[in-house]
Amino acid sequence: MNRPFAPITPVATDADSLPALRIVTCGAVDDGKSTLIGRLLHEQDLIFDDQRAALVRDSASRGAAGDEPDYALLLDGLAAEREQGITIDVAYRSFATARRAFVVADAPGHAQYTRNMATAASTADLAVLLVDARKGLRPQTRRHAIIASLFGLRHIVLAVNKIDLVDFNQTVFDDIARAFGDFGRSLGFAAIHAIPLSARHGDNVSSSSLRLPWYRGPTLLDHLETVAVDDVRADRPFRLPVQWINRADADFRGAAGTVAQGRVRLGDPVAVLPSGLTATVARIVGGNGDLIEAQAGDAITLVLGDAVDVGRGDMLSATRDRPPVADQFAAHLVWLSDEPLYPGRSYLMKINHNTVPATVTELKYRIDIDTLARLAAKTLAANEIGVGNLSIARPVAFDAYADNRDTGAFILIDRASNDTVAAGMIDFALRRATNIHRHDQTVSPAARTALMGHKPAVLWFTGLPASGKSTLANRIEAALHARGVHTLLLDGDNIRHGLNKDLGFTESDRVENIRRAGEVAKLMTEAGLIVLCAFISPFAAERRMVRDLIGNTAFIEIFVDTPLAECIARDPKGLYRRAQAGEIKNFTGVDQPYEPPRQPDLHLSTAGTDVDTLTARVVAELERRGLFTTD
Ligand code: ADX
Repeated sequence: MNRPFAPITPVATDADSLPALRIVTCGAVDDGKSTLIGRLLHEQDLIFDDQRAALVRDSASRGAAGDEPDYALLLDGLAAEREQGITIDVAYRSFATARRAFVVADAPGHAQYTRNMATAASTADLAVLLVDARKGLRPQTRRHAIIASLFGLRHIVLAVNKIDLVDFNQTVFDDIARAFGDFGRSLGFAAIHAIPLSARHGDNVSSSSLRLPWYRGPTLLDHLETVAVDDVRADRPFRLPVQWINRADADFRGAAGTVAQGRVRLGDPVAVLPSGLTATVARIVGGNGDLIEAQAGDAITLVLGDAVDVGRGDMLSATRDRPPVADQFAAHLVWLSDEPLYPGRSYLMKINHNTVPATVTELKYRIDIDTLARLAAKTLAANEIGVGNLSIARPVAFDAYADNRDTGAFILIDRASNDTVAAGMIDFALRRATNIHRHDQTVSPAARTALMGHKPAVLWFTGLPASGKSTLANRIEAALHARGVHTLLLDGDNIRHGLNKDLGFTESDRVENIRRAGEVAKLMTEAGLIVLCAFISPFAAERRMVRDLIGNTAFIEIFVDTPLAECIARDPKGLYRRAQAGEIKNFTGVDQPYEPPRQPDLHLSTAGTDVDTLTARVVAELERRGLFTTD
């Protein structure tokens, strides 16, 4: 399975009639979430006695009011989930009654904890949204409802809590229920069920309250035990994202994974995507041996009767109703990292057991999670949700998140830190790119090299402003030219007068500046040139992106290393002085960072070495790399 967030361990239950219900509880701070769950467990006798004794003792020592223990303490302090460097504070608790098994996720209610709520919502069937009867709907209530709907939740229980504190007043309850009903319908929830209750005193939690005679509906537990959340995944077309290839012995080769949707039977034809080849199911092997049939949720190994190529990251599917395959799509993104999104930057996407380089090619808008308004945005900060287009390095098979929350979900990972920076939900495939095909060219790269008399390459000069990049690149170009080498010099200052004149110096504009420069450099190497690029290029991620684009052998990263103090002393254009005076914003080395290369191909310390010596060093390195030969 490829859920973007922490998986939930299945719970064992004797209640076979209904599938386990995965619940997320949410609501503003102090609306009583933890108390409600604690109460539910306590009334079902689902906590251990020693735990309960400790609870009463702790409550007393913390001075909780009245003689009721503070059930919130039960859920406090449960282990934080840590996934790829992101701390997500979601407490999971599973329990079973005689009628049904439950997994409850409790998401902290602070405004900045969108990601916690998102984590919990992405794995839940139903949300219990708490409201304090005295306070009614609050911005947090709406926000959590919006997140729940974005993450595909269809069922909502509106728990109007602390009803005792409004004297069990029906009008208060009716007003809140009506207000939420109007709002909730606009979010597309299939069912909204409002229940008046008191978590602290137990009214309508698991037993009907005599103090609420006007309420004729089920208690919270009754409702949760009986609600049908119509898990129709088994009735949909078959999908199996291949997690690994099982080669148990020389004769056995099977595609292993968990069925994400639908069923598969012996003899069924299946398609392998992206290739589109088809084969017949020869064996289905489950945990306890061979099966005739498997369905959504089952972990199996499929042996195919025909010799088709299947690998990790492929999707096996029904032949009639196949998933889309694309390398570009529109998606919702929940940004998780403290470092903002940079459209154009290369991240790694994990989707359906594939790990592929990915960029956000266009951020269309950010969603105001209080009003659902679409706001213009160039970036996303932590906990913000946006919609954009993404492009990945090769096509993969997936479903829209609305159709399947497993095969339609992905995460983005920072390539340097390996942290998860975003969770994503695919809206739809963008077809435009898949209709473009590369043309075969008669003039081959080797033929071009032979004609040029040397190999193509990119010399990428990076360093602080005034470190000497342009001067050096210029001299080296002259030296190469004198040897009969065909060159082109791309300089930040010059490119910013033409191709990139729409770009400024914000971090995201710099990312785009380098992306375009990299693409141009690539085209020029395809023409057979040695391209010298002089750009501050302050971020390691973009320099790596250009390296990936050009290829490791042809890309030569040259770090023009001049101490900041020296650059400030040189300051040929007077820009440091103006930046220090606050006249220029976002100036590298002053109020924006420069990430020095850790392992440049050439490290040129300019202090105390003259330009001719440095030029000779670079030319000698190109010679050593065999660039001036054609073989
Ligand atoms: S990069 O960061 O996007 O790679 P680039 O090398 O293209 O920058 O452009 C840097 C040049 O723009 C500098 O040589 C300097 O002359 C000019 N410049 C103007 N404003 C700034 C700024 N805020 N930060 C850096 N350079 C600036």
